[in-house]
Amino acid sequence: MHKTIAVLEGDGIGPEIVREAVKTLKSIEKKFGHAFDLAYAPFGAQAYFSEGSPFPEKTQAVCDAADVIIKGPVGLSVARMEEIPAQFRPEIGAILPLRRRYDTFANFRPVRLPKELACFSPLKAEYIGEGIDILMIRELVGGIYFGDKVEGTATGMRYATDECTYSDEQVRRIAVVAFDEARKRKARLTSIDKANVLATSRLWKKVVEDVAASYPDVTYQSMLVDNAAYQLVKNPTALNGVMLLENMQGDILTDQAGGIIGSLGLMPSACIGPSKSYVEPAHGSAPDIAGKGIANPYSMIGSVALMFERCLGLPQEAGLLWQALFKVFASGYTTGDLMVSGPSKQRILSTSDFGDLVVRHIEQA
Ligand code: NAD
Ligand code: IPM
Ligand code: MN
Repeated sequence: MHKTIAVLEGDGIGPEIVREAVKTLKSIEKKFGHAFDLAYAPFGAQAYFSEGSPFPEKTQAVCDAADVIIKGPVGLSVARMEEIPAQFRPEIGAILPLRRRYDTFANFRPVRLPKELACFSPLKAEYIGEGIDILMIRELVGGIYFGDKVEGTATGMRYATDECTYSDEQVRRIAVVAFDEARKRKARLTSIDKANVLATSRLWKKVVEDVAASYPDVTYQSMLVDNAAYQLVKNPTALNGVMLLENMQGDILTDQAGGIIGSLGLMPSACIGPSKSYVEPAHGSAPDIAGKGIANPYSMIGSVALMFERCLGLPQEAGLLWQALFKVFASGYTTGDLMVSGPSKQRILSTSDFGDLVVRHIEQA
């Protein structure tokens, strides 16, 4: 297979973990005889400082011309955010425009912790049971993120508004993706909402129930988002299967899921659109650990596995990459973020040693 892949390294730990992901990509390319042309382009805060825009026109052109995009995390630390004017910040000026440009409405965020790795979780091993395996599917181009925003002053008082809108069509298309996925996995689907308060959630629930009627083989339940936050901690395996979430609620619960399995460094993701898709970790640029060579590259390498699986139609390549990743843990190695206190035998690797070990497992397979 011959493909052009845009590579946006991003900020903070972005370049460090993208480097490891590219290592593993090249190893798979060689093993399977593919040809992947990589086109690097600036994106995020680094692009703002070097080019004056977080999503420069030349980067847009590189992405337009690519078959798929690999994106590292972007953003400055909360303390440094003010260094960039609001409209040029990587979140508002780069990530949301990227999502809107390619209409990447379906965000797949798998949450996986096999029971053998229960020690990674801050929860007691009993809570992990036979293992956590939840596919969180988050709507990514609608809701409050994309509604009108107003910041003003009236009669001497400051106020602000964020409009939250969902249309029947927007909910339906993500619900269909989620139900198809649940059917394929023979898994239960839990749809999350706040229908006891929000009008958008009431629409969400009605449309999801409408779609559910066409999938009688899929066990469906709806759950309020606050209860879902609770159940994720109290009884996470009861949510095994597919979870369907709107944009903002999905943002929050996917980070919580990262905490439950031990680290955001275990959270890869794929953002799928009708004609173009990109992959990125679910986490941010981790400014607190950037430049130290200690970040967990699993999330970025796993995002490449999701790219093979969901964007390029290469399930064997994806399977081998997942296998190589889990072999690193099974052989007793991890990065520092997953180090548990107590009598753990796990040995700590640097970011690049982790990548090298994944490559070795690919080569030896
Ligand atoms: P963060 O996700 O960057 O970090 C939260 C915590 O998780 C930190 O302690 C960090 O060290 C840790 N962490 C994250 N990824 C890790 C990894 N791979 N290995 C080990 N530890 C890891 O959240 P934040 O600090 O609130 O945000 C930093 C910046 O990232 C902000 O500017 C934010 O807007 C941005 N952000 C970007 C994206 C994206 O590019 N899609 C996603 C989330 C946040
Ligand atoms: C994520 C991030 C983004 C989001 C931000 C950085 C815009 O937190 O991908 O989860 O909220 O979607
Ligand atoms: Mn987030």
